[in-house]
Amino acid sequence: MMSQPSLLIVDDEAGVRESIRLIFGKDFRLCEARSSEEAIRRVGEGKPEIILLDILMPGCNGLDTLKRIKAIHPAGQVIMLTALNTARTAFAAKESGAFDYVTKPFDVDELRLRVSRALEKIQLASELERLKEEVGRKYGIENIVGKSRPMLEIYKVVSMVAGKKSTVLITGESGTGKELIARAIHYNSDRCAKPFIVVNCAALPDALTESELFGYEKGAFTNAHQRKAGHFEIAHGGTLFLDEIGELGLGTQAKFLRAIETETFHRLGGTQEIKVDVRVIAASNRDVEKLAAAGDFRRDLFYRLNVVSLRLPPLAERREDIPLLLDYFLKLKAEENSLTPKTLSPEVIDRMMSYPWPGNVRELENLIERLTILSPRETVMPADLPEGMRSQDQTASLKKKALQGSRPLSEAVDQFEREMILKALQQTGFNQTKAAFVLGTSRRVLRYRMEKLQITESELDSDQTKLSG
Ligand SMILES: Nc1ncnc2c1ncn2[C@@H]1O[C@H](COP(=O)(O)OP(=O)(O)OP(=O)(O)O)[C@@H](O)[C@H]1O
Ligand SMILES: [Mg+2]
Repeated sequence: MMSQPSLLIVDDEAGVRESIRLIFGKDFRLCEARSSEEAIRRVGEGKPEIILLDILMPGCNGLDTLKRIKAIHPAGQVIMLTALNTARTAFAAKESGAFDYVTKPFDVDELRLRVSRALEKIQLASELERLKEEVGRKYGIENIVGKSRPMLEIYKVVSMVAGKKSTVLITGESGTGKELIARAIHYNSDRCAKPFIVVNCAALPDALTESELFGYEKGAFTNAHQRKAGHFEIAHGGTLFLDEIGELGLGTQAKFLRAIETETFHRLGGTQEIKVDVRVIAASNRDVEKLAAAGDFRRDLFYRLNVVSLRLPPLAERREDIPLLLDYFLKLKAEENSLTPKTLSPEVIDRMMSYPWPGNVRELENLIERLTILSPRETVMPADLPEGMRSQDQTASLKKKALQGSRPLSEAVDQFEREMILKALQQTGFNQTKAAFVLGTSRRVLRYRMEKLQITESELDSDQTKLSG
């Protein structure tokens, strides 16, 4: 923030001003005022960070001056200088907005300490302001890329519901931007200064879900050595984002429904009812309505969550957004890595326009990041693309060979399957559960196939390098 902070001394005694000049002259830009009127003028002009204000000046009341200063410059930190060390004066000064007070004749170290505390407070406040602004900018709607019709629809709904408290259910394939939209809703609401808490229901073991969501009291179970607040409690005033809600166990669903409906709950092992004000946003890459129809998800909870529903389209359903996303990530990834943005050759753009993007925007983002960092040329050529993206032709030629009988069909099929599995694992950061989902199979089947095709972690690593190359 400030290169050299400024400090205003308001005192009618020349001796006091002189000694303060001596103490702070090196570290602050100083200015002085001898009267209340002069002080107000100087505050208006220079907005000094710190103001040392004599409480007793002839012909004016220091507390009135304080109030007028705070009215024109609320961020300024005022430290009162008082000859009367009475609790009443101190109290009145703080009541009127003073940060602190010191008694005259003052102790130099004490004065320094109080001034540096006031300065710290200002720095913290400005850091917080900066962070808030940064977060707001990062998660603002204007940072969501896409001008396709389904995306415009989504922006409309987001801006309509942001200010409300209604629960929102966001569905869409992995990597379509569900969390991004949830954050946009939160940061465009009046809850933006309060917490945005993410809970990934798939990552929680069943046995822990309830204690994580609702917290527990000391002694609620073995190992509960002290009370712990759950996500619901921590999100008070803000937004609770429940990711992969489809994975929530049926038992927990019942408790959860009750908690959202009443906005009250008990910590595990607790009797005290805890009241919270929390907005819930849930997301899933599964069709929760179908899960509900099949009895794997409580219908009442589904209806409760589905007050507003947003379906994020897969990238392949909004190809006109691909060029915008490419542009956005080419600039962003170059900036993040202090590199110059790459350009893409027309053939590369063609490939990207026709590629199916099973990992959606996340896959596109990761690819551009890799190309930005690893591609040796200014302009990315098809040869720089990962094998997975060139394999359209590869698989085609394999298919041709198999059909011509020069390669056994089973080998071609194995090769194809192998590529699919590797790609899915790579897109999901080697998360088998997610990869299985992308492939439309179960984790058990995926494991079995991986074993059969002898796909191992270490091979993934080397394949990764190959894919990145
Ligand atoms: N429309 C978009 N504009 C800009 N960036 C996007 C967009 N959609 C997604 N992204 C980026 O893609 C990445 C994945 O998005 P996000 O985490 O929101 O997806 P998700 O749907 O929650 O995925 P998953 O189901 O795997 O959790 C993030 O880095 C996000 O910033
Ligand atoms: Mg997500």
